[in-house]
Amino acid sequence: MCGIVAYVGKKDAYPILMSGLHRLEYRGYDSAGVCVYNNNDLHLYKTLGKVSDLERFVEGKDMSGHIGIAHTRWATHGLPNEINAHPHYSEFSDIALIHNGIIENYSPLKEELIKQGRHFTSETDTEVLVQLIDFIRMDGDLTLEEAVRQALSQVVGAYAIAVISKDDPYTVIGARKGSPLVIGVGEDEYILASDATPLVEYTKEVIYLEESHIAVMTVKPDAKPKLTITNLKNVRKTPRVQTLETSLEVLEKGGYPHFMLKEIYEQPKVIRDSFRGRINIERNTVALSGIIDHQDKFLKARRIIITACGTSWHAGLVGKYLIEELARIPVEVEYASEYRYRHPIVNKDDVVMAISQSGETADTLAAVNLARDNGAFVYGICNVVGASIPRETHSGTYIHAGPEIGVASTKAFTAQVCVLTLIALSLAKAKGTVDASRFSTIVNELYTLPDKIEKTLKLNDKIADFAKIFTYSRNFLYLGRGYNYPLALEGALKLKEISYIHAEGYPAAEMKHGPIALVDSEMPIVVIATNQGNYEKIVSNIQEVKARKGRIISIITEGDTTVKALSDYYIEIPATEAMLVPVLACVPLQLLAYHIAVQRGCNVDQPRNLAKSVTVE
Ligand code: AGP
Repeated sequence: MCGIVAYVGKKDAYPILMSGLHRLEYRGYDSAGVCVYNNNDLHLYKTLGKVSDLERFVEGKDMSGHIGIAHTRWATHGLPNEINAHPHYSEFSDIALIHNGIIENYSPLKEELIKQGRHFTSETDTEVLVQLIDFIRMDGDLTLEEAVRQALSQVVGAYAIAVISKDDPYTVIGARKGSPLVIGVGEDEYILASDATPLVEYTKEVIYLEESHIAVMTVKPDAKPKLTITNLKNVRKTPRVQTLETSLEVLEKGGYPHFMLKEIYEQPKVIRDSFRGRINIERNTVALSGIIDHQDKFLKARRIIITACGTSWHAGLVGKYLIEELARIPVEVEYASEYRYRHPIVNKDDVVMAISQSGETADTLAAVNLARDNGAFVYGICNVVGASIPRETHSGTYIHAGPEIGVASTKAFTAQVCVLTLIALSLAKAKGTVDASRFSTIVNELYTLPDKIEKTLKLNDKIADFAKIFTYSRNFLYLGRGYNYPLALEGALKLKEISYIHAEGYPAAEMKHGPIALVDSEMPIVVIATNQGNYEKIVSNIQEVKARKGRIISIITEGDTTVKALSDYYIEIPATEAMLVPVLACVPLQLLAYHIAVQRGCNVDQPRNLAKSVTVE
């Protein structure tokens, strides 16, 4: 999730582009770049780091000009560095392009363009797009607009782009599919951006560009500004101008009161992004380049050791259940802070998997270095591209969850579990430990999860009502069995870290070995009791705590009647495979914790005593 902004008009573009990038920095902040047109040429500058680093870099340079594009990056393809930063030039530096999204088929397109004599400087999917546009334009002697249209008809994936060219310094071309793009309509100017935050200062008149539409914005010195919108089939579309009635703060959070709630609602898109180019539902295949490149390491592994902290450790525990059930490889899950100091046994045929959203957690990084230095093959599952942990591991898979601003991890957890499921399925296929029909059942079910999460998110208001009942509870217990046990731990952690209520997660059957002593009519007990796996067992566990007057809040499968009857409160979620319930059922757990914390007036996005990335041990 990057931030893009473009300007064409009568004012100087640079200051508008820079204030726009600052507004979009919450979308990505590992590198930035700008390109303006003056003195008959394009001038492109890009740096590693934040927008302020870019501003320092261009100080003293001629940044005048009435047209320009700028970008703040959240790396997905290619490390965060100056070369991979945007904008990217075409072969002869006469077209510049910025992009937010993922071009899934960039590899085959790149190979073809190289055969056609094109040269590439970066590792990005984006450079392939600008080269493709330029190749088509030159090959067919086409207008830039037509070349953009034909190029976009060849790409698979998500994009929001802005393109300018030396040959027409009065026109910006924008297009989108899957990634957001909005046009600010000014008196004699247009501002194009990933969201309305860069626009509010200049205009309240906006056009939200629709799927697969191309906008051509031209502002010539002696003419009225001109905007045309067409689709990929070159059919003219009438723009729908809307009036912005909202504040900047609200816009940054996409209209949500907190980044945490915004990130909870982003999960369907995030999971679709984590599947992009990895699941081919038509061919019923799963492909992860890191696993394909190092499959032998996994298939020959004596064991897999997953190491992580906090929420990532909970995702790791779900990963253990998935890999052991599907690929029949033994998995151990280690708290990184313990693993690094207990002088662990590390064998050369061990695979160590480090899971970290930030990729900077000190304990997990140390565990990675320890395992690598003792000869294990180390594989990372991270969100922040180019962070320390991805740099120290032998290989890995990025979860593509986009920036996670709220300290309490939500969308990173579901994306981590989805990637772990893809890894388990890939290894199972390679080992032949899952038959074809079971494989396709799980892949198809996995592919429907984003829709089922969208359905589950509709329970938000109901859960917000629940939360009012438990606002002043002092303790909570969370129970689950099988795949739902790590989820019980995660639900308890979410509540603890943002509402400051003491909460514990337990394997439900463990209750009678002690914790059941805590149960009385004051104790709220959240039970993840979906009707797969040991359903009868969890029903009897509920009866045990019910007998001690515990107040049952259950997460049940739609249509369940047994647990519903035993519950004081229940939340129904769509049915899915037992191994996929953690991705679905964590949504109501996230929402319950969120609403209780809001009711208690807590600082949900920046809870006390916590940091988003724990870089000290
Ligand atoms: C989770 O909500 C917390 N922010 C925390 O437990 C977090 O999961 C832990 O610090 C690990 O962070 P990482 O995934 O960035 O390594």
